[in-house]
Amino acid sequence: MSTPESKMAGISRRMISAKAEQFTESVIREMTRLAMKHNAVNLSQGFPDFAAPAEVKEAARQAISDDINQYAITWGAKALRDAIVEKFERTQSVRYDPEREITICCGSTEAMMSAMMAVINPGDEVVVFEPFYENYGPDAILSGAAPRFVRMQPPSAKNPDWSFDREELAAAFGANSKAIILNTPNNPTGKVFSRAELEFIRDLCVRWNVYCITDEIYEHILYDGTEHISMARLEGMRDRTIVINGMSKTYSVTGWRVGWALAPPEPTQAIRKVHDFLTVGAAAPLQQAGASALHSPQAYYDNLAVAYAKKRERLLKILETAGFTVYKPRGAYYIMTDISRLDFPANDPRFASGSKDVAFAKYLVQEIGVACVPGSSFYNVPQDGASQVRFTFCKKEETLAAAEARFAKLKA
Ligand SMILES: Cc1ncc(COP(=O)(O)O)c(C=O)c1O
Repeated sequence: MSTPESKMAGISRRMISAKAEQFTESVIREMTRLAMKHNAVNLSQGFPDFAAPAEVKEAARQAISDDINQYAITWGAKALRDAIVEKFERTQSVRYDPEREITICCGSTEAMMSAMMAVINPGDEVVVFEPFYENYGPDAILSGAAPRFVRMQPPSAKNPDWSFDREELAAAFGANSKAIILNTPNNPTGKVFSRAELEFIRDLCVRWNVYCITDEIYEHILYDGTEHISMARLEGMRDRTIVINGMSKTYSVTGWRVGWALAPPEPTQAIRKVHDFLTVGAAAPLQQAGASALHSPQAYYDNLAVAYAKKRERLLKILETAGFTVYKPRGAYYIMTDISRLDFPANDPRFASGSKDVAFAKYLVQEIGVACVPGSSFYNVPQDGASQVRFTFCKKEETLAAAEARFAKLKA
């Protein structure tokens, strides 16, 4: 006889979509919750714990005082669209039409999702470099894309940077390919794709007639003289590239949720429709403030990179001293590490998990008091990231110093 409970269980199973069943909650966001619960130093999620620039905050205050409180045009406030187009032309020498080729979204997260939903049909294949920013997995599932992963190998004696096999990449493209997702500077590896690598990818995009959807959110966080080259800048790519970017990282305002997609008119029309019915628009006063942030002088961007370079050195040293094998990033603000040399009670039932990196992350947050992100969350097959964890250094000196003190308890 069926009880009300058993009926409910049956109903609730059927009431969840097959798509939503296919992915878990974000591990990165979960680590932040665990950090708060255990009062740990949070080096997991990539949000700065220091203030945003005073001028940017003042512009937001001013926008609210000026009563910019109602819906902006769904594809974005004109002042911000104009500022983005002007800045992109200044930095990448490529001109977009602010009326027909840009959509302002709720963060680059929504811009990526809207772009994928706008161009992908069920079964279309999307090439993704691995390890990848964890959102791209659910993005692929929700848009119906079939991901084809191409592995990047960590730096080695032979190759000082994260690298991919060109034949393997070429083999991932085919008649069903619709797009490649590129993230440069890259999270989690810190890789900054070189012009030669981009040209190789460009040739594949042209040959197979696919889009390059390029996530450039860390464009200004660069080290060691590396240069950010947008795929849109390469010959033949202006009309097959969708550039995703946002305010979060460049202006230290991850909570403002302002991002955008630059794309030719046809995909932009589709992106705007998806965006409109998903969110209508990003916060109007913060878009207005964004317009003034994007007019920051070049010195602002130079100083940002210099400040992060110091933090990178600081955390590299802390992690090396604690016994991690570190992979030095060339851009963005994360350090991927290998934990093989570290000793920890992996079989303790409080931490035990199917994956060593998850057990280690639990141990680190509960016993040592530092939160990181398990490497498996950046791989399609979790086991492939089982010896890696990622730390971020977009934190105040006090935060990094607190982590350093806590790492003293870790056994190498
Ligand atoms: C590669 C990458 N893309 C996008 C985002 C999210 O950006 P936004 O805050 O604009 O949604 C992040 C945040 O960590 C990221 O690392």
